[in-house]
Order: sequence, then structure tokens, then C-alpha cells
Amino acid sequence: MELDKYDQALLNGEYGETKQKMMEILLALGKIYEAEKFIEVKSVQVSGASFKTIGDAGLSWLNTLSGKAVVPSFLNPIGMPRDEWQNLGIPDDFAKKQLEVNAAYTRLGIRPTCTCTPYYFNIIERGDHLAWSESSAVSYVNSVLGARTNREGGPSALASALTGKTPYYGLHIVRNRIPQIEFHIDDPAATKSWTNAHYGALGIIAGAISGNRIPFFTELRPNRDMLKSLGAAMAASGAVALYHVNEITPETRFPFFKKHIEEDDREVVEIEVSEIDELFGSLEADVVALGCPHVSEEELEELAFLLENRRVVMPFYIFAAEEMKAKHPDLCAKIQNSGAKIVPDTCMVVSPLMDRAGVVMTNSGKAFTYLPGMCKATPLLGTLEDCVRAGCGE
Ligand code: F3S
Repeated sequence: MELDKYDQALLNGEYGETKQKMMEILLALGKIYEAEKFIEVKSVQVSGASFKTIGDAGLSWLNTLSGKAVVPSFLNPIGMPRDEWQNLGIPDDFAKKQLEVNAAYTRLGIRPTCTCTPYYFNIIERGDHLAWSESSAVSYVNSVLGARTNREGGPSALASALTGKTPYYGLHIVRNRIPQIEFHIDDPAATKSWTNAHYGALGIIAGAISGNRIPFFTELRPNRDMLKSLGAAMAASGAVALYHVNEITPETRFPFFKKHIEEDDREVVEIEVSEIDELFGSLEADVVALGCPHVSEEELEELAFLLENRRVVMPFYIFAAEEMKAKHPDLCAKIQNSGAKIVPDTCMVVSPLMDRAGVVMTNSGKAFTYLPGMCKATPLLGTLEDCVRAGCGE
């Protein structure tokens, strides 16, 4: 690989042992993927932040590291809220370890944003090179915002945070961002009434078929929350890090892209609306969990509207970034008047909150995919309205 003076100095240990090791990780990755050089990244998002997912081995490794991030770097959701975790029944020994994980990342200069939606609070521009690692966030910044990142692992993202560099390969290169599989819906008119949950259901099916290929959807008109839901589910049921929706996502308007769409061969798959509908279950839940990925302003508004003058009759959790919660105290107060809890910093999958929770109703295709394996819970998929009705025992 071609190395500049700074790359070489990092590898020589001139910036300390940790940064030397980090650069060695990135160099190994670059060689595997035959990258010709390193590029600078504008920001980093680091996963592997919950003690539930990294365990003692991950915590010990973090504690061997030193130095500071050199580019804006954001932390993924951790295993519990930073404050008031005691009220949620988080076990003390888990909380103690989680606080140690938080301290280790803070010492390394990773901002404790504790969200998978840092794109709501930071400017991400089309063409920006990033090193992000949480799969739904990777999908959103690549597909919806037109930035460029590979789906990094926790250690490689941390390496980019501490060095500001990433190997130039994969989705950083424009020619690698062209669709490889195309999806049609058998009844496009039916998609006009689809909600975020329907897009999550589509994502479950399309992600499993796509694997790590780049999907291209035609005939859909999703808004940003629907795109978030679609991408998150495809990243969970498959390994989709980038997708395109014709005339909706930014890169589909480029002449280069249009030329490839017209000229390239790719597999074409038709999905039936009935396959989507079959994923929706009954309303008989033990718990309702929303906010996977963390809720947007619009989702918070909709929830405040739906929960006004209602009372929940079962545990009802809404996962959000602390920054979103702080920005909308009135909406949050309306929601919490119903008895629903807005839980910041963590999520239904990476916290112990949903472990063996029974039947968990959600509007998220990603959570629906992960809840059985990660939490030993039975998932039910419903629209936001269904989830509110179920949670209120209606
Ligand atoms: Fe975010 Fe947790 Fe879902 S990290 S995408 S809320 S599994």
C-alpha cells in the first residue's frame, strides 16, 4: 500500500504504541481488501459499546489502549442509560462493568453520544468518507445521505478514530456502489399505504435475499423514517450496507448511476405484498419496544399524538438518543404521561432489558430479526398504531 508520511510515522510508533497497533490493524485490513492507499475520514461511529456484547474480553482490551481520537467520533448505544439505570432493574454487576466501558471510551476521546442515529445531530454530506460501524447507521449514511463508509467492525472503527484514516476500498469507491440486485413489488399501489413497519418487513425479506449485495428498489416512495426502517432491517437479515431507491436516494440521480442501471445485468426479484403482510402478528404482547433504530423527531411527535389521553397497561419502552430527549421535553412529557418510558443511551437489543421478556411487540424489522437470538424473546411485528393499541390493552 502507498503510505504518506503520517501513515508511516504512525506505523513507526512515533504517535505511541496504541496508535501504532491501530495502524497495523488498518494496514492488515487494507492488504486483505487490496486497498491502494489510506484516506482521511471525517467522522467515526464506534460500536461494541455495550458490556452485553463485548463482555470482559472487550473491556480488558479497551483498558490496554491509550491516546485520543483525532476526528469527531461517536459511541453506539451502551447497555443501559447513563443516568437513572437503577430505576430499570439493571443488575448492579452489569452496571459496574458498563460504567467501566463508558470510562474507557471517554478516555480515548470517543464522545458518549450513545446512539445509533448520530446523523440526526451531526452534518453528514454527500461524498463524505466515514468509518462507521453500527449496521443501520452505516446503511443510512451510505444510502440516504450519500456518504461513503464500509461496515466497520468495532476495533477497525476505533482504529480510524485514533488515526483519522481508513483503507480506500469497498464502498469508498464510486464504482463499487452500483446495484447488484433489483427488487419489484407485485402491487406497487398497495405500498402507498405502507408504514415504517411495512418497510421494516420488506427489509427483512429483501435483506435475506440480498446477502451482502447492493439492492435497488423501484416503484417505492418512502420518507426518511421508512428508509431508516428498510435499511436497518436489511442490515440485520442480510449484510446490506448500501441500497438505492429509484429517484429517492441521492445517488440514483447521477448520470453514472443511470447508465449502469440501463446497461448492467443483475438478478431481478419480485416480492409479493402478501409476503409482507404475513409478517404482521397479533396484538397479544407482554412488552412493547420501539426505537430501533433510535426514534426521530417525527416518530417522537407521532408517538406523543397517539399516546395522548391514553394509558399503557404493560411495560412500554421507547429508545432514543439522549440528545433527542433533551431537545423535545414537551413531547417526552406527553409520552411519559401515558406511563410509557423513554429510555436514552441504550436499546432493546444491546441492554439486558428485554432478556427473556416474553412476547415483545415492535414496529422494527431489525428488532424483529434480533430479539429471538440476542434476547431470547418472541417478537411480534406491528405498525406504530398497533403497538400503541397493544400497549394500551385495546
Ligand atoms: Fe440501534 Fe440497537 Fe436497533 S443499536 S439499530 S436500536 S439494535
